[in-house]
Amino acid sequence: MPQPQMVTGLPSRMDCALLLVTLMVALTGTVTPQTSSEPCPKRLVGEERRRTCPRPCKADLDCGSKRQCLCDGQCGLSCVAPGRTCPWPLAPREDAVARLLHPTHSFSALLEVRCKPGLTLPSGLDVVIRRCQGDRRWSGDEPICTEAVLPEPGSSPPKCPLPKEVTSTFTIEGTATVGTSIRYSCQSGADIVGSAENYCQENQTWQYPHPVCKKVYCKSPGEVPQGYVVAVQKTEYEVGFDIHYLCKKNFHLDGPQKVTCLANGSWSAAPPFCRARCLIPAVRSRVMIDGVKRWPFDITDTMVPHGENVTFFCKHLHKHCSFSVAQSCFDGELRPPACYLEPTWLQFQLFPHRLVSEIETCDAADVETF
Ligand SMILES: *[C@@H]1O[C@H](CO)[C@@H](O)[C@H](O)[C@H]1NC(C)=O
Ligand SMILES: *[C@@H]1O[C@H](CO)[C@@H](O)[C@H](O)[C@H]1NC(C)=O
Repeated sequence: MPQPQMVTGLPSRMDCALLLVTLMVALTGTVTPQTSSEPCPKRLVGEERRRTCPRPCKADLDCGSKRQCLCDGQCGLSCVAPGRTCPWPLAPREDAVARLLHPTHSFSALLEVRCKPGLTLPSGLDVVIRRCQGDRRWSGDEPICTEAVLPEPGSSPPKCPLPKEVTSTFTIEGTATVGTSIRYSCQSGADIVGSAENYCQENQTWQYPHPVCKKVYCKSPGEVPQGYVVAVQKTEYEVGFDIHYLCKKNFHLDGPQKVTCLANGSWSAAPPFCRARCLIPAVRSRVMIDGVKRWPFDITDTMVPHGENVTFFCKHLHKHCSFSVAQSCFDGELRPPACYLEPTWLQFQLFPHRLVSEIETCDAADVETF
């Protein structure tokens, strides 16, 4: 039974505009207003990846007797043999169903390829329209439908890689899952060079390269008055570097003997002080130093080191007994207690046994009520 030849056979030049709009609707889902007066697009090879286009033309006259000047998609107006057909039926496929949208499979006919349920094209859509071209091929690449990538319930979401050298250098805030950001901070406390934030992209790669931690130095801790810094003088020191301190003669080291440059650029401790000795502010009284009662003139230079306690003897206001009050030497400063009275030269020479430091000590009870 002969097919009625009516319907189209072939589209006219006028039909080209309609075809173009149809294609646009099919491919993009939207209708772009046709502002151009051209009914067929200019030859624009590339989009459809056609290796060859038929000879371009403006009218049938340009094409000789066996061909017509027809709109051939992105090849534009081309000389096409009217009887040309594209392959049909197509071999059955596992992943998609093809369906002709025209009664024939000849030039300019449209073919719908629809993915089977649950499958999608790389574009994310599940349908594509192909057109029968002048070169007897269906337009576009062979569509391939694949299983849609949806996160399966219960399975862990995809992540971006975090290599060991990154996790061992930084503290990472965030889960590194696709579509989220992480924040880096250097474990050493050092400054970050690069972006402190990164984004895990859809394709499981990071938006930026991982940052690095700036090399850490400790600033020079400076001089210690009356002391020596036992280290090469530098403006900055590497992590792990030790600086030792010594004090000049008769100065007492108050603080660490050594400081170390830590990984965060701080010193393990503040530098020490070198503290001065104190002159004992008593001459004609014995004082107690280190548990021993001594005359100040018997002590070298009549001085005690920084931090030493010196116990003075004071007289009870009403009783003939003495009580003791300790004072500390701090960096050259040692004051006698307010109750201490320096004996006069005469008292010292004539009545040495009556000096306050020499009389008997008061009972604890007497001192408490004092
Ligand atoms: C450096 O680290 C030490 C010990 O880890 C810490 O005590 C100190 O506060 C840190 N200094 C700074 C400036 O973070
Ligand atoms: C001095 O006395 C204070 C307070 O009683 C004590 O903490 C310190 O250890 C004493 N210093 C010496 C060198 O005995």
